[in-house]
Formats: sequence, C-alpha cells, structure tokens
Amino acid sequence: MPISIAVDGPVGAGKTTICDTVCKKLGILHLDTGAMYRAVGISALRKGVSTDDEESIVRLLTSGEVDIDVEYRDGEQITLVNGENVNGLIRTQEAGSAASAVSRFPGVRRHLVALQQAMAKRQSMLLDGRDIGTVVLPDADVKIYLTASSLKRAERRRAQLLEAGTDIPLEEIIREVEARDYQDMNRETDPLRRAEDAVVVDSSDLTFEETVERVLSLIKAAKKE
Ligand code: DC
Repeated sequence: MPISIAVDGPVGAGKTTICDTVCKKLGILHLDTGAMYRAVGISALRKGVSTDDEESIVRLLTSGEVDIDVEYRDGEQITLVNGENVNGLIRTQEAGSAASAVSRFPGVRRHLVALQQAMAKRQSMLLDGRDIGTVVLPDADVKIYLTASSLKRAERRRAQLLEAGTDIPLEEIIREVEARDYQDMNRETDPLRRAEDAVVVDSSDLTFEETVERVLSLIKAAKKE
C-alpha cells in the first residue's frame, strides 16, 4: 500500500525545503502542489489573461490549451506547462501572487486536485500545500500542519531575498506575508485551515534540522501504528 503524507501550512513556513529534505531521507517522492498553482498563474500571465478572469482561466485548463503536468528526474519535481519545464520561472513574487489569485477559483482547484490525487494513488508520496489534509488526501496516513509566526516567516523570506541580492524592509515583507495569509485563509473554496486530525509543528523556535527531525519522527510514529 502506498503511504500518503499531507503537509499544509501558510506561506513561508518552509514547507517546500523541509518536505524536500524529509522525502530524500525517506526515499519517497515529494509533490509541491503550490508549484502547480504557480504554473497556472504564470500561464495566465503569459497568455495575457487577467488573473481575475475566472472563466477564461478555467477554460485554458479544461480545453487543454494549458496542460499542467509533473514528472520526476532523479527524484526532483519538474513542473511542466505543455511539456516545458517551468521550474525556473515559478519562484518569483509575481508568480506567487498570480498563483494566490488563480487558486481562488473552484474550477482551477478541481482540475489540479484531480491530478494530485491520481499521482498519490500510484505511489508513496508526501504532498504539501494548503488543502492536502482537508481535501486532496482526507485519508492520509499522516497529517502535519507546519507553521511559524508571521515575523519568523518574514525574517526567513528577507534572508532568502537578501541572498538573491534584493533588500526589502522587514515591515514590507511582514505585510506581504500577512496579506497572503489573509487571502489563502479567507477564500471561499478550500481555504487554508488545519485538518482536525493534523499535528501542528510550529517551527518559530526550531532550527531547520530540528523541524526536519520533528516531521520525520511524526511520520515514523505513524508508520509503526
Ligand atoms: O506554497 P506556494 O507559495 O508555492 O503556493 C502558491 C499559492 O498557491 C498560494 O498562495 C496558495 C496556493 N495554493 C493552494 O491554494 N493550494 C495548494 N494546495 C497549494 C498552493
């Protein structure tokens, strides 16, 4: 039986990097579902379709004009738009905002959730996102809600941006993080919330390694059950 692990949490909680490391240690695949919403977001931008135009965006997906897919090369997730690897394009602030906007639409969510569920059925996987424990894998073997204070999340984001050569005041980043939380937690369809049976891991006062260890121990404990 494939094992399924659901990790949800707000922006900047470190889900992607923590989950990548956890999956390498466990030797299972990691599906970063945010990358799929980002791929839809950049597809809308590229086609010149407004990220408020629900009907046109849903049509891009359902008509097959924009085909979102994921494959793995040497264990690394490659997110594809019509066969093109878009990994290098989806990590910008612009792609993140577009993803947050298009992820409000039920038709977009239905389309991506079906792809995610089909992948998780085939093999053992860890999925991370906003609605994994609540909607995509309600019967997951392990559910984790990974979070941290908005200050800590903003500080980490600022450090990443500085490393990439961009200096943005901390207050501005805190505002952005809180605005994104608001949008993700208050949209009508599948808002971000903790599944009732998810264990909360708050990484505000944990190092990266400590957070990885905590997540690993929760998964190992669930496997033994
Ligand atoms: O995790 P991320 O920052 O890459 O996600 C980008 C956006 O996609 C985020 O604003 C919320 C949305 N998202 C979602 O609605 N559901 C998911 N399962 C994953 C991401």
